[in-house]
Amino acid sequence: MKLTYFGHSCFLVESGGQKLLFDPFITPNPLAKGVDISKIQADLILLSHGHVDHVADAVALASQTGAPVVSNWEVSEWLGRQGLTNLVAMNHGGSRSFGFGRVKMTGAIHSSTMPDGSAGGNPGGYVVEFAEGAFYYSGDTALTMDMKLIPEEFAIRFAVLPIGDNFTMGASDATRAAGFVDTSIVVGVHYNTFPPIVINKEEAVATFSKSGRTLLLPAIGETVEI
Ligand code: NI
Ligand code: MN
Repeated sequence: MKLTYFGHSCFLVESGGQKLLFDPFITPNPLAKGVDISKIQADLILLSHGHVDHVADAVALASQTGAPVVSNWEVSEWLGRQGLTNLVAMNHGGSRSFGFGRVKMTGAIHSSTMPDGSAGGNPGGYVVEFAEGAFYYSGDTALTMDMKLIPEEFAIRFAVLPIGDNFTMGASDATRAAGFVDTSIVVGVHYNTFPPIVINKEEAVATFSKSGRTLLLPAIGETVEI
């Protein structure tokens, strides 16, 4: 699988020729000013919750790519009010088959108000199962015991987890989350974008390596093979 990082919690995973884009927040992010969103291609866009730092460019990129947007019911209703029609509404615990494999929506401990203040349902995350393997994106969340259910069902090759602390897990809890989902490779997201989530990257990498795990922190715009 190939993962390209676009800053904050926005990343694209490619497998079997399918491109899945998560939580697009690029144009408002000064750290991602080198990313040209007009060049981003996607076959499916997935949103973890309604906060602006996860949905800011969703409408523009869905319109540009024609990709369906997967989200919870309330976020899907909001996207409909923004004029999108190619929407896939799910909710926690539900899974759905796509041409490339399966997507299951997982829970998250967080909040989910939309940018206009309307209700954004409950925040979530996703397990995506491709033919070549599965990965887990937790979305914004605290560490939760429910993560332990995931490896009962899926062999997780890698997890994409927030490490910025303050609004979500920090590196220490994200290391424990990696243990809960039984993976040794984590891509860290949701850090350094805003002052309360500025971290020391070397310390975060060391926190993971103490438990024998690898924390990948691709540069914005960088693609890594996992
Ligand atoms: Ni959030
Ligand atoms: Mn967030």
